[in-house]
Amino acid sequence: MASVKISSGKSFNSAAGDSMLDSARAEGLTLEYSCRTGRCGVCKTKVLSGETEAFLDELSLSPEDNLNGYVLTCCRFALTDVEDIGALGDIKIRTLPCRIDALGVLASNVLQVVLRLPPNSRFTYLPGQYLDVIGPGGVRRSYSIANAQREDEKLELHIREVGQGVMSAYWFGAAEANDLLRLEGPLGTFSLREKDARNIIFLATGTGIAPVKAMLEQIKKAPETIMGKQIFVYWGGRTESDIYWQPELAQLAAVFAPVLSRASSSWSGRTGYVQAAVLEDGIDLTQSVVYACGSENMIFCAREVLQKAGLPERNFYADAFVRSN
Ligand code: FES
Repeated sequence: MASVKISSGKSFNSAAGDSMLDSARAEGLTLEYSCRTGRCGVCKTKVLSGETEAFLDELSLSPEDNLNGYVLTCCRFALTDVEDIGALGDIKIRTLPCRIDALGVLASNVLQVVLRLPPNSRFTYLPGQYLDVIGPGGVRRSYSIANAQREDEKLELHIREVGQGVMSAYWFGAAEANDLLRLEGPLGTFSLREKDARNIIFLATGTGIAPVKAMLEQIKKAPETIMGKQIFVYWGGRTESDIYWQPELAQLAAVFAPVLSRASSSWSGRTGYVQAAVLEDGIDLTQSVVYACGSENMIFCAREVLQKAGLPERNFYADAFVRSN
């Protein structure tokens, strides 16, 4: 058993075979994470001293990252005592029964699913986090929560149809109001942070807008927390029908920019990719914090180009959607 020390000064024990991420969680410490499979890079952290061993491929690390001592805490355990960086507070993960409260159509291939929990479940989460729904036959899929905490504790999800997807076949072919499911959550660490940055930039592709919607609802409940800051919301899709929701930003200093990569000739809005749109707008990235959610490709490109353009490394937070059938 090796000891891992994190930047807050706290420590946890890491056993061979268990990821540092899971070992930390077992002792009530939540490190940054999203996919838990080595693909998103959110759990990337620098080992200051000590030896670790990977038991999963660290797919999102570059050769340069390896040379510079970066590791993925979801893929490695500690061999010797390790000093590590970055941790969040304690976030309790629970498994609860739930029922479908309502089903709605947001777009031809996107459903709005509202879940209701047993009375007084006290399911608490940070807007931006996701949960796993455990459906018929025990099939489990991850979905971001699309609303800030409500008094009635209902949870909204935006679910995109996946060709040949086992869970998609249920959502788009069989799901009905009052169906009984289970959920596990809240999961992930994608959430608003207290930062001095003057600009708050949200980047989303597809249903990656769901956690952004939840975070905007959180901001609208307490606008004093972002006093003096400018908000930008860039939402990327292929065609007009992908822009299935309009944020209500009236009381905020905010700009909403839908950006289409395959717009029809009748589209008069922005075209291209969200990360390119941010650069075109000439926002001072040295004074910005970015929250990005959507395809792995967008997250990787956005992280790279925005950091090259001056965004501080510690001001990029992401939740990557990793596809499962
Ligand atoms: S790479 Fe570790 S959480 Fe995604």
